[in-house]
Amino acid sequence: MTRFLYISDTHWGSGDTGYTMQPKYDHELPALLAALQDWIEAHGPIDFLLHGGDMIHEMSADNIRQAAAWFDLPLPIHLCLGNHDLTAHDSVDTWMALAPQFFPEASTDFTIKTTDCMIHVIPNQYGPTPFLWDRTQDPHFLDSQIQALEQRLDAAPDTTHLILTHSPVHDLPQAQSGLDKPFHQPLASFTDCVVELAEKYDVPCVLGAHSHVNMNKELNGVNYITVSPLVETPFEFKLFEVLPESLTMETHNLWDRMDVGARYNWNSTFVQGRACDRSFHRTLTPHS
Ligand SMILES: [Fe+2]
Repeated sequence: MTRFLYISDTHWGSGDTGYTMQPKYDHELPALLAALQDWIEAHGPIDFLLHGGDMIHEMSADNIRQAAAWFDLPLPIHLCLGNHDLTAHDSVDTWMALAPQFFPEASTDFTIKTTDCMIHVIPNQYGPTPFLWDRTQDPHFLDSQIQALEQRLDAAPDTTHLILTHSPVHDLPQAQSGLDKPFHQPLASFTDCVVELAEKYDVPCVLGAHSHVNMNKELNGVNYITVSPLVETPFEFKLFEVLPESLTMETHNLWDRMDVGARYNWNSTFVQGRACDRSFHRTLTPHS
């Protein structure tokens, strides 16, 4: 069995600024990661941890160095770069120089291969300059990213493939949000691109982040996931368990392990989602 954790949007260095959906305790990241390590010791073993992006709030060498120091946990950590991780022209070079341990192939795009699955990390783009977020939020992939991903999907037809990118692939179901308008609706071109890839290659689950909300939207046999930030109450993260014949996701939190007098906004419980937004268990098509 492969067991991994999925967290996102830690926004190290944001201070009092930045988008939030629940009260934010980003300055408590060291304590949160210590609590997460305690959780792992109680509930492990865990093979690795995936970070869905926005590890830091703004690109600077200091922010990367500090985040890398806090994320020095005794298990592999892999990062899918988010828009806040890419706010300068030399962002990728700086990440590779200061935190190469997060990028297994010395590349922004990489694959984690286990005995049960392959997880393809493919950070989406935001504007006309690759790997730079300065003004626009136009989620898309470079042609070269899609070609590389398709080569890997094509090359291992007998494996369970998961995909991780930063931007959500779908807006939040209105049955969850209770809103009368879309919430974090991506461009249709991005949705169509990812949906087509997932369905073409029988990908059971696509992970995303960025919205700061838990989502589990099931469409045509694919579970599209986002996770609420580890640094916002109630400090949630996901546990994935992959077997050749099944895929399971559970949402857990560190609320009871954090003694910081944390607050919670009970007017926005949709962020945590309904039971169906927080977990799933599904059987996988057996591979020959
Ligand atoms: Fe983001």
